[in-house]
Amino acid sequence: MSGASRGDAAGGGRYGEAVFRPGQAGEGERIDFGALAYDDITMARLRALGVGPGWRCLDVGAGTGTVSRRLLEEAGVAGVLAVDRDARFLSKRPAPGLDVVEADITAADFAPGRFGLVHARFVLMHLPEHDRMITALAELVAPGGVLVLSDAVDLTSDRTPETPYTAMMRAMWRGLRATIGTDVSWVPSYPHLLRGAGLESVAAEIHVPPLLPGSPISRFWADTWERSRAAMLATGLVDDAAVDAAVRYLDSDECAALSAGMLTAWGRKPAEAPR
Ligand SMILES: C[S@@+](CC[C@H](N)C(=O)[O-])C[C@H]1O[C@@H](n2cnc3c(N)ncnc32)[C@H](O)[C@@H]1O
Repeated sequence: MSGASRGDAAGGGRYGEAVFRPGQAGEGERIDFGALAYDDITMARLRALGVGPGWRCLDVGAGTGTVSRRLLEEAGVAGVLAVDRDARFLSKRPAPGLDVVEADITAADFAPGRFGLVHARFVLMHLPEHDRMITALAELVAPGGVLVLSDAVDLTSDRTPETPYTAMMRAMWRGLRATIGTDVSWVPSYPHLLRGAGLESVAAEIHVPPLLPGSPISRFWADTWERSRAAMLATGLVDDAAVDAAVRYLDSDECAALSAGMLTAWGRKPAEAPR
């Protein structure tokens, strides 16, 4: 598929280019640390929404495919189409019922069909044109099906105590915004945007994994800071020593901080009126 739109980062970059390159050693492991922190929460929500046997599912920006495979293995869905702009991690771990497509979901001609479940986790926050993307994904939901979106919410505020962690998160969000266009400021608007896309029974929840030394979420943030180090330094908010100190802080008993959360919002496509 072609015709991709460009990112709206100041530098015109996109996810997977200057930052989070899939070819860089350890990128699959970084995504897997995020999955370890959040997959159980995601699966519980999908199961509660009724996703199970007979469902055809679309997982966009599927990464290493942990959710796609758990839908097949645990929820017993009929099939999953896992789509990613770079499908190398998905192709490495095949599973019965898992179809993999390498495609850019922002492309005008991205039209893989209709699905009972359309799922996107930690993808839209990195893409421009949020409203258009939510409308486009809602179009892919079959009548009676659900669209489920998860993305990060920044829980720091002006009142948040200055710790090595908060300094790093501030620099990270600003640096990612400037290099690849990541923007989490609109994520709390998901319920409203889903309703605007014509979905019903809209609701949302937030999960915040505890930042304990050695936990998957702590390792995820440490890896993420390493990979976005150049972008963070370019903000002028932090220097190399501060990044190193924050990585040590995360892994120490000194750490006393609130992680960014994962907001999950969902909405159901009205069933077609009976003829
Ligand atoms: C942070 S990872 C999340 C992976 C997975 N959804 C998860 O939560 O474990 C973001 C994924 O979205 C993919 N991605 C980013 N932009 C994309 C685009 N325009 N089209 C398709 N995939 C994209 C990336 O290649 C990457 O695999």
